[in-house]
Amino acid sequence: MSASTAPRIVYVNGRFCPIEEATVPIMDRGFLFGDGIYEVTAVLDGKFVDNEPHLTRLDRSLGAIGIRNPHTIAEWVAIQCELVRRNALAEGSIYIEVTRGVYEREFTCPPDIAPSVVMFTQTRKLRENPAADTGVPIITVPDLRWARRDIKSVALLAQVLAKQAAKAAGVAEAWMVEDGFVTEGASSTAFIITGKREIVTRPLSNAVLPGITRQTVMKLAAEHGLTLVERLFTVEEAKAAEEVFFTSATTFVMPVVAIDGEIVGGGQPGPLARELRRLYFEAADSASE
Ligand code: PDD
Repeated sequence: MSASTAPRIVYVNGRFCPIEEATVPIMDRGFLFGDGIYEVTAVLDGKFVDNEPHLTRLDRSLGAIGIRNPHTIAEWVAIQCELVRRNALAEGSIYIEVTRGVYEREFTCPPDIAPSVVMFTQTRKLRENPAADTGVPIITVPDLRWARRDIKSVALLAQVLAKQAAKAAGVAEAWMVEDGFVTEGASSTAFIITGKREIVTRPLSNAVLPGITRQTVMKLAAEHGLTLVERLFTVEEAKAAEEVFFTSATTFVMPVVAIDGEIVGGGQPGPLARELRRLYFEAADSASE
């Protein structure tokens, strides 16, 4: 059977099953309260990209909201590998969600209820992405989120609204803005490159998710002698930048060519963003995962 006609197999609480049979109780706190954490790891040529830091961040996020991590990194990887194998996934992503578990709908619950774990794969073309060749337009929106954006919470209503606004505007991503400064993309980390060839991104804090792709891209940039500056920047600065791009587990390095309808970076992917994208694939391809 080919991968497209084979049943899609997902993982729910210790069990691999066809997606049609996978259910979560309505009293799950992820469903009722958004009381859970998630991670997304890319898969290229059947191999995970930056998987260990994603699983480390999962552990950190769970710890930050007091959910017991039900698995060691080795156990997570074993389940991921089995899911990739059962779905014959060559390229796409793997999603993990851990919620606090199932309990009567009350704001609090005993600390020892069993976390719910759901995992699934998504087949997507990630490497050959036409958007990366042309660059993408984005819009800006107010950042409506809570104060602990460093936690990869499944409570994503503000990001859903931002993405819907982006879709309505016919663009790929929305950058969120607070007090005049860009925080991050609805599902990505924001970067600009100044006329002095400085790669600028916001420093880590509670205001943004510590992006794993951000971390890898910054490491690669440093290794190649590029200058990195962690500081806040405004939308006006981004519009005037030499280059603009964003990073995430599924878009890697994505050049931006317009912000709120204004052309940026000459309307074409810039040379440094292109180079960073190339370096990212080079690093992913040479990793052993
Ligand atoms: N989102 N900032 C936010 C708010 C994000 O949701 C994401 C990723 C990132 C980039 O982080 P990373 O490089 O670790 O993927 C930054 C994932 C891809 C998602 O929600 O699908």
